[in-house]
Amino acid sequence: MLSLAFKRLRFIALCITTAQAVSDFDWQTLTPSPGLDWKPCYSGFQCTRLTVPLDYSAPQGSNASIAIVRLPSTAPKSEYRGPILFNPGGPGGSGVDAIVENGEAFVNTFGPGFDIVGFDPRGISYSTPIISFFNTEAERRFLIPSATNIIYPSLNQSSHALSEGWADYQLLGQLALASDVGAGHYLQHMSTDNIARDMLRITEVFGFEKLQYWGISYGSVLGATFATMFPVCGHLKLLKSKLSGCCHIHPFRSFNRLTSISQSANGTSMMADVDGSLDAFFDGCHKAGPELCPFYEPTASAISAKLDALTASVHEKPIAVVTPGSHGLIDLTFLRNVILDALFDPYDSASGFVPLAQGLAHLAKGNATALYALGAIPTFECPASASAAPAFHENNLEAYIAIACGDANPVNDTLTELQEYWLNGLRVSNFSDLLSSPRVVCSGYNIHRPGRFQGPVGAKNISFPLLLVGNTLDPGTAHAGAIQTSKAFPGSVVLTQDSVGHTSLVAPSSCKDGYFREYFVNGTLPAPGTVCPIDIELFPNSTSPDASATTKRALQTVEEKRLLNAGRKIGRVVRRAVGRRAL
Ligand SMILES: *[C@@H]1O[C@H](CO)[C@@H](O)[C@H](O)[C@H]1NC(C)=O
Ligand SMILES: *[C@@H]1O[C@H](CO)[C@@H](O)[C@H](O)[C@H]1NC(C)=O
Ligand SMILES: *[C@@H]1O[C@H](CO)[C@@H](O)[C@H](O)[C@H]1NC(C)=O
Ligand SMILES: *[C@@H]1O[C@H](CO)[C@@H](O)[C@H](O)[C@H]1NC(C)=O
Ligand SMILES: *[C@@H]1O[C@H](CO)[C@@H](O)[C@H](O)[C@H]1NC(C)=O
Ligand SMILES: *[C@@H]1O[C@H](CO)[C@@H](O)[C@H](O)[C@H]1NC(C)=O
Ligand SMILES: *[C@@H]1O[C@H](CO)[C@@H](O)[C@H](O)[C@H]1NC(C)=O
Ligand SMILES: *[C@@H]1O[C@H](CO)[C@@H](O)[C@H](O)[C@H]1NC(C)=O
Ligand SMILES: *[C@@H]1O[C@H](CO)[C@@H](O)[C@H](O)[C@H]1NC(C)=O
Repeated sequence: MLSLAFKRLRFIALCITTAQAVSDFDWQTLTPSPGLDWKPCYSGFQCTRLTVPLDYSAPQGSNASIAIVRLPSTAPKSEYRGPILFNPGGPGGSGVDAIVENGEAFVNTFGPGFDIVGFDPRGISYSTPIISFFNTEAERRFLIPSATNIIYPSLNQSSHALSEGWADYQLLGQLALASDVGAGHYLQHMSTDNIARDMLRITEVFGFEKLQYWGISYGSVLGATFATMFPVCGHLKLLKSKLSGCCHIHPFRSFNRLTSISQSANGTSMMADVDGSLDAFFDGCHKAGPELCPFYEPTASAISAKLDALTASVHEKPIAVVTPGSHGLIDLTFLRNVILDALFDPYDSASGFVPLAQGLAHLAKGNATALYALGAIPTFECPASASAAPAFHENNLEAYIAIACGDANPVNDTLTELQEYWLNGLRVSNFSDLLSSPRVVCSGYNIHRPGRFQGPVGAKNISFPLLLVGNTLDPGTAHAGAIQTSKAFPGSVVLTQDSVGHTSLVAPSSCKDGYFREYFVNGTLPAPGTVCPIDIELFPNSTSPDASATTKRALQTVEEKRLLNAGRKIGRVVRRAVGRRAL
């Protein structure tokens, strides 16, 4: 959850302008049309804006437009295999940005036969109408923090953390309602089922009948939704194309998550792998030894105890940190978010287990700089035009709320019920203080379209079997979710990546990339029960000559190296594009 008061302070303190990231193409120069009217954009890409009905049950009514980018296939026509659509998760992540930054890496993974296609789901980033609860960009930046690491206060932070978070989201929910009334009640149509319908429309205007798709995290919920709504994608024939839901599909996430949580004694299965992932940090650190893991102790449980002591100390007595580029407090919320971030991305050299161990070791010795750097609040950017709402912008949190909360049943919990939910979650994970936040976030949102698709997902007769990928331990989408989804789609196969972290993109695995390619190119699934090793260690020996590529073993072929780099690059960018963990 975000702390609004905290954010206000930051707004004043860090108001300097910096350059924009990806967006060096002006989408407003494109006119939306019902076909694919490709225009050159970015560098080597083509862009178009596709008109779709805002409300598919009223096709004569208002339209929405979907921003689509592609890196066109370079194969001869006879080897052209059509588009692969990609969704980076969230909901709220921009598929356009993900592909603009990664198109090349996708080509390396899947080969030149495909159009690599990114689209911003309706309401997100460059698609319109943009989901927006605010009248001006200044208001948005004032109320919604860009620092993802501080938007989830620990419910343990103070005795009023829950009630303040709840109140913040009541406010945001009321702003959503007010803005929606003034904008023709469009928010009810910003739902996963409509995004699936848009994907079908995109596939059709490409001239194909069946979707080829890769989605990670929430993208797998979207894929499972599509597969449920359109199991044979228009009933047909001909093209041997397929629907791939790479990564952990969680049928109880998104739709059932919020509802089943309230109905069952403990609906917190999405947290099932979190504590195991933390144990992997303790075990990995212990196994790596003091040279490679600075937070080392003679047993894994001693490392755990040392972390508990450090956490208690920071909770009792937060630490103020001032660095040249930033400043802030290391308090309970900060520390726990930094730890959780590392669990999501454990192999990352900037925020994974190695820098976490370094930061914790320094912190234990009284130097907070390195730990702070892991969650430092990014420099605030003043909006270029503060007075008007820009046509396109990053709107992760608003999009998340409108889509994820809008899909689910209304959350009308009292504060006492929310408290019970959080404490009940502790039976599954010690991180329930952070991971209960989606329910709190949704408690203020009251826009739900009657009749929207709410699951359950599953289809007996899907036209091409799904490939589901699950990490051994995934703190955002537990492995059990992939298994459960596989049961809902008979014929699908779960490919397990033997790693910690959120989504298979966290770690390079030439084994996995090979299966991806075989699946998309040849339509071949791995044998059930296949487990892929990864090509990186949790605590690599960076001084070892053999680790210059931080890989476990020498790579066999040029092709393998290309796939590996592609996988890593995709992972990095996608995580940035989504900008929100877990969801
Ligand atoms: C929506 O788009 C369709 C197809 O381009 C067009 O015929 C129709 O006029 C549009 N509707 C509105 C309300 O603009
Ligand atoms: C958070 O609070 C709960 C309930 O009081 C407690 O069981 C748990 O140990 C606390 N966790 C942390 C990290 O402080
Ligand atoms: C909670 O759910 C998890 C996963 O579904 C299950 O393993 C566990 O036994 C449940 N715990 C309780 C207390 O019901
Ligand atoms: C604290 O650690 C940082 C590196 O993380 C180092 O640059 C700095 O000099 C240290 N400060 C003190 C007082 O040791
Ligand atoms: C809360 O929502 C549930 C369904 O989601 C409904 O059955 C119940 O009546 C609601 N309670 C209140 C007090 O509105
Ligand atoms: C939570 O942490 C405590 C103390 O570190 C540990 O004993 C307990 O097993 C943890 N709970 C879970 C569900 O892992
Ligand atoms: C499943 O699909 C195939 C081909 O699409 C069709 O021939 C078959 O009748 C379907 N089976 C069921 C049970 O719907
Ligand atoms: C696809 O199958 C052909 C024929 O079996 C094989 O030569 C080729 O290597 C396969 N391609 C991929 C990407 O698996
Ligand atoms: C790391 O690699 C260096 C160079 O090969 C070697 O001297 C050192 O012993 C290794 N350390 C560990 C812990 O394996």
